[in-house]
Amino acid sequence: MANHKKQTSKSPIGIFDSGIGGLTVARAINKIMPNEQLIYFGDTAHFPYGEKSPDSIKYYALRISDFLLKQNCKMIVIACNTASSVAYQTVKNQAGNKALVVSVIEPVVNNVANQYKQGKIGVIATKGTIKSDIYNKRLKELNTSLQVSSVATPLLAPMIEEGFYNNNISRTVINSYLLKPKLKNIDALILACTHYPLIRPEIEEYYKQKVKIIDSAEIVAEHVYALLKEHRLLNKDQGEKSKFYVSDYTDSFAKSTKIFYNNKIKLQYNPIWENE
Ligand code: DGL
Repeated sequence: MANHKKQTSKSPIGIFDSGIGGLTVARAINKIMPNEQLIYFGDTAHFPYGEKSPDSIKYYALRISDFLLKQNCKMIVIACNTASSVAYQTVKNQAGNKALVVSVIEPVVNNVANQYKQGKIGVIATKGTIKSDIYNKRLKELNTSLQVSSVATPLLAPMIEEGFYNNNISRTVINSYLLKPKLKNIDALILACTHYPLIRPEIEEYYKQKVKIIDSAEIVAEHVYALLKEHRLLNKDQGEKSKFYVSDYTDSFAKSTKIFYNNKIKLQYNPIWENE
């Protein structure tokens, strides 16, 4: 298990995801907290998590958090919705009082429950996230008057990762999911997956401003800021250079980082499973 130094405001923020889609969350964090050093881990060797069993995801999440704790991270952000749905408690138990742990789900459900006292909320996500029923359960716990309707949209993440967005193919796939009767008459739609901010314009075009689109990356970044501030862990000085690791390296992953993060970043191959 990890050997820790005491974290300070200068310690990095660890962020992990099943792949490089979680860079949308890293980008949102970097935008409002440019001083923070980020240590990003994309588990590209096991992508997609949306199709994996909860036990496998918990196992990967434990190994990755152990790696991030060894880097002395002051916080671990589980950028992946699927991992947040099934492995949040597992990561939290492992981190104990060594690091703060943030799931992408809690900040979003709190935000939605504050905004909507009643109404119908749609959720789109991977099969794993929808199967966990976590958005429905948590939103109902916060507000019993809310109606929650969830639809698994498994083609979307791989489609976006392959660069299919903002074209005719992506529009056909997106529209065929949004046309599902379960998503009829919704007031808001939660984009409950790392990749979906990239197709937000197409989703907005479909709903023509009649439905509020809820993008978790920005909400999570604001929550991270508030939590670090509360714990006096915000870095006031410019931190060290951020690092971006992946468990499997291909040129296609390297190319796709640009669409998720904008800035050019260098992915480093780090098969943490083989290092022990
Ligand atoms: N990162 C995953 C999520 O947010 C999407 C891709 C996957 O299935 O691993 O749920």
